[in-house]
Amino acid sequence: MRTVLEPASFAPSVHNSQPWRFRLLPDRIELHADVERSLSATDPDARELRLSCGAALFNLRVALHGLGVRPLVTLLPGNAVPGALAAVRRGGVLRPDDEHRALLRAVPVRRTNRRPFFESGVDGRRRHALVRAAELERAWLHVFTTREDVARMKYLVRRAHQIQLDDPGAQAGHRRVPATACRPPPRGSARRRRTSGRSATSATTVCRGRTTSRTRWCSSSARTTTVR
Ligand SMILES: Cc1cc2nc3c(=O)[nH]c(=O)nc-3n(C[C@H](O)[C@H](O)[C@H](O)COP(=O)(O)O)c2cc1C
Repeated sequence: MRTVLEPASFAPSVHNSQPWRFRLLPDRIELHADVERSLSATDPDARELRLSCGAALFNLRVALHGLGVRPLVTLLPGNAVPGALAAVRRGGVLRPDDEHRALLRAVPVRRTNRRPFFESGVDGRRRHALVRAAELERAWLHVFTTREDVARMKYLVRRAHQIQLDDPGAQAGHRRVPATACRPPPRGSARRRRTSGRSATSATTVCRGRTTSRTRWCSSSARTTTVR
């Protein structure tokens, strides 16, 4: 379980809230939203919460595929199972190829890049690869290419940021995200040695073991994947 839940916990999440929980059942892993980690002021529709959970689901699939398991994902919109967003089952054997192995290696070292942008644009080949990757996930990536579009986007981002800074409710919501939500960089990685700007983490486990029935809950993050 650690082998697949740890990579899942390395997913990006809004304000590093890691708003997911995994329910471990004999035939499946369910992904649930952890509403205690929602940010009601800045994310009232829980859209960014769901995007974060989607990223964790993606990493979970990558990890299962890395073990040679074809992940069979059922999205569970409309509360088919209360609170569950998705269920992942074993769908037979799927051997990882080179591209997949590279993706798996990237999971623990991926990091949100907040450094300044280059003046030059992203070259066409990389843009195409990004658009294709989004399409494979049944999403789409809109690429801004004209100066006017980029300037407008810059203005909107700045304005949105300022609105949030001026909103005491939003600021309080961000402070409310449990400190345990912050995950440390993976052991031995270059990131661990760098100052990343994220909060220090405690070694507290937030793994919620339930001994009744065969259900186990795990709020997955690097130090919480000990599943009893
Ligand atoms: C739905 C979503 C929205 C995000 N929004 C922002 C954002 O507005 N600004 C930002 O700097 N990072 C944003 N992030 C990145 C997170 O802050 C980042 O994933 C989190 O702090 C964990 O850091 P890591 O990605 O380096 O592991 C977002 C991530 C997700 C999944």
